[in-house]
Amino acid sequence: MKALVFLLLLVVVTAKQYDRCDLARAMKANGMAGYRGISLANWVCLAKHESGYNTQAINHNSDGSTDYGIFQINNRWWCNNGKFHSANGCKISCSQLLTDNISQAAECAKIIVRQQGITAWVAWRKYCRGRDVSSYVAGCGV
Ligand SMILES: *[C@@H]1O[C@H](CO)[C@@H](O)[C@H](O)[C@H]1NC(C)=O
Repeated sequence: MKALVFLLLLVVVTAKQYDRCDLARAMKANGMAGYRGISLANWVCLAKHESGYNTQAINHNSDGSTDYGIFQINNRWWCNNGKFHSANGCKISCSQLLTDNISQAAECAKIIVRQQGITAWVAWRKYCRGRDVSSYVAGCGV
C-alpha cells in the first residue's frame, strides 16, 4: 500500500503544470512567437484550452485515437504510441510530447501549422479565433 501511495505521488509531481507566463517564455524560447504569423498569445490561448497548460494531459477520442501533451497532439496523424496506426507526421514517439521540456512538442506543433494551419486545433477555433487573446501573455514580459 505504501508503495502504491508513493507511485501515485510520483506521478503527480512528475506532471508539469505550467504557469501561464512560464509557458509563454518557454514557447518564445522555442521559436513559437510569431511563427507563421501566430502570436504568442494565440499559442498560449490554444494550450490553455487544449491541455490547461499540463504537459502530461492525455485524452482519448471517440475514433480510438489519443491526444498528447500541452498541445494535445493526435496519434493518428502526428506521433506514434506503438499501438495505434499512425501517419507519424512529426516522426516522434507520443511520450516525447509529455515531457516538461516542450521543445519537441513545439517542433511538432510547427509542423502541424505548416501543413494544416492553426485551425487544426479545435480549441483554438472555439476559444481563441477572432478574440482578444492579449490577456494570455499580459504581465509576462514577453
Ligand atoms: C530541451 O530539449 C532540447 C532538445 O530536445 C534541448 O536542446 C534543450 O536544451 C532542452 N532545454 C532545456 C531547458 O533543458
